[in-house]
Amino acid sequence: MEIITTIGSLRSRLRQQPSIAFVPTMGGLHDGHLALIRAARQKTGFVVASIFVNRLQFLPTEDFDRYPRTLEEDCRLLQNHHADVVFAPGEKDLYPALQEFLVDPPSMADTLEGEFRPGFFRGVSTIVLKLFNIVGPQVAVFGKKDYQQLHILREMVKQLNLPIEILAADTVRAPDGLALSSRNRYLAPEERCQAPRLYQTLRQLGQEIKSGNTSFRELEENGTAVLDRHGWKVDYVAVRDQNTFAPAQAGNERVVVLGAARLGKTRLIDNLEV
Ligand code: PAJ
Repeated sequence: MEIITTIGSLRSRLRQQPSIAFVPTMGGLHDGHLALIRAARQKTGFVVASIFVNRLQFLPTEDFDRYPRTLEEDCRLLQNHHADVVFAPGEKDLYPALQEFLVDPPSMADTLEGEFRPGFFRGVSTIVLKLFNIVGPQVAVFGKKDYQQLHILREMVKQLNLPIEILAADTVRAPDGLALSSRNRYLAPEERCQAPRLYQTLRQLGQEIKSGNTSFRELEENGTAVLDRHGWKVDYVAVRDQNTFAPAQAGNERVVVLGAARLGKTRLIDNLEV
């Protein structure tokens, strides 16, 4: 496995490579990321992973400075999982000057995560487009853990005619149901015990919906109340149409239940397709 830190050397290394599967990450790697590497490996013979904590997708009040940076350990894990190249550029490589051209995502980016993290999807779309232009993959793999991100990036690829196939990988969870996340390492022991309740709550809503309950707004309120009661600060619990992210209506065939809430200083998100 090669570790490459500049755009120039990455481009010359990949020039002869006919088929590349790409896994963009911000590092702090865990088994969720490694499942994407495995999915990429199954798809083509050459896997590139990137590690870059993208300042553009963090609000000034968010955790950019303390986001886990564990490059050595990340590279060890990627090597064990047979990635071929790790692209780990510095800030000045990707943002040598103020990034003034930005990808302006559609209105599905204004709701849920976009409502609570204004500019987040603009930052994500911009860096992912830049990385796609640098790596030139045929396939890129993203996790369903970041459900809205996956959909927005699919839409970007479609509307901007990028010749890239987007693969979605299922969410990898701890045995108690907590979705793996780089941010889980911020959780204090008692918060870690509480953390599985987010997914439990989404599952309860999922059960209700499966058994025919279509009072979606009431279900959202109930889910929020359960989390509130256990000390969470809820941003949203939402039942949405899987494709449009519009609030689910009775008669919607495929809905997704999404939640974002804070335990202490740590913000967790999760979702469940119903
Ligand atoms: P990051 O949070 O590091 O996630 C990188 C990829 O891993 C994303 O596609 C994410 O959905 C996936 N992932 C994270 N946790 C997962 C889990 N438990 N199971 C399955 N997949 C999981 O998402 C980002 O970075 C950034 O926004 C990025 C796309 C790299 C742009 O900066």
